[in-house]
Amino acid sequence: MCGSGGVGKTTLSAALALRLAEEGRRVLVLTIDPARRLADALGTGDLDNEPRRVPTERGELRALMLDSKATFDDLVRRHSPSPEVCERILTNHYYRFVSERLPGVHEYMAMERLLSLALNDEADVIVLDTPPTRHALDFLAAPDRMAGLMDESVMRWLVLPATASGWRMLEMGSDVLAGVLKRLLGPTTIADIAEFFSGFQTLWGGFRERSIAVRALLRSPTTQFVLVTAPAPGARAEAIAFLEVLQRDGMPFSGFFINRCAPPAPPDLAWPKPPEHRSTGEWERVRSEVAATLDRRRALTAAQDRAVEDLLAHAPSGSQAWRIPDQPTDVHDLPSLRRLGVALDTSGAIAALRRNG
Ligand SMILES: Nc1ncnc2c1ncn2[C@@H]1O[C@H](COP(=O)(O)OP(=O)(O)OP(=O)(O)O)[C@@H](O)[C@H]1O
Ligand SMILES: [Mg+2]
Repeated sequence: MCGSGGVGKTTLSAALALRLAEEGRRVLVLTIDPARRLADALGTGDLDNEPRRVPTERGELRALMLDSKATFDDLVRRHSPSPEVCERILTNHYYRFVSERLPGVHEYMAMERLLSLALNDEADVIVLDTPPTRHALDFLAAPDRMAGLMDESVMRWLVLPATASGWRMLEMGSDVLAGVLKRLLGPTTIADIAEFFSGFQTLWGGFRERSIAVRALLRSPTTQFVLVTAPAPGARAEAIAFLEVLQRDGMPFSGFFINRCAPPAPPDLAWPKPPEHRSTGEWERVRSEVAATLDRRRALTAAQDRAVEDLLAHAPSGSQAWRIPDQPTDVHDLPSLRRLGVALDTSGAIAALRRNG
């Protein structure tokens, strides 16, 4: 589930997951940034990287929230050749920088977490929420970038000179370099970096293999991408730009959730005669106010129709757009998520997603 900031990705991911679970599937929702009240509703309030059961009326729903540092630590623990190497990596200053602050690491760990759930969890469906568009693009590119970084030739270049003592000499020879490093990486020294790479080289192959597996998973026919957008032109333009990236990368696209749509305008009323206690003039004023409101509603519906046509004109043939109504209240608890799930069903989205996957 992708889209620009604030359009409703997290909310719709949760509503879709809840609906699918209460229809009888085993569902897992991996969310990136639920608003506090939504996290509480889902039971992910304490920001856990492990799936937690959500108290549904029927079926099985579990939710987890990505903790990229915990995911990285876990990978190091699982794949280190020995407890000593593992300890050396986990306590290394440069590793701390890499696992917490290296640009793109969050997106990459989301992919690692997704892969491990896809391979090891017994869920029938995994719903993945994503960060806003700009970051989501990073997140699509992350496995490719990581595969490039994990390329052995790059690795060899990094480790090569690098008996730790070689790097240390470099460090001693350059106060300037050490100063720059300190500013960029906090307490990290060149020796830390050398040590990190020498410990980490045993894990490299595994990272590379998994990044290739993630790329295959994202493009597999069991994966479906849904773009969340709004009828407003700005959100639409971002959705179209995002769609181009999906298509260029060969990702399987199912359709758009056009969120927060106004309900369709009611049909014309046969205007009754004025009641006895109202003057004709007064009654005419009420009638024209109601007519103006209806006109505004119709104009809104027509603009939404044009927005849908515009989106579909940019999408591959066979793509669909589902209109999700704006809810009267904020969506932050299970009953309101359930109502939104019903709206997703009524829009035809759930049947279509089921047919595709
Ligand atoms: N159909 C809807 N009707 C009413 N309110 C909605 C609807 N969809 C989402 N919202 C509200 O919009 C707000 C933003 O939603 P949400 O956090 O899901 O967006 P997001 O796309 O995940 O944002 P971000 O890009 O910051 O991750 C929330 O307060 C949510 O309750
Ligand atoms: Mg969100």
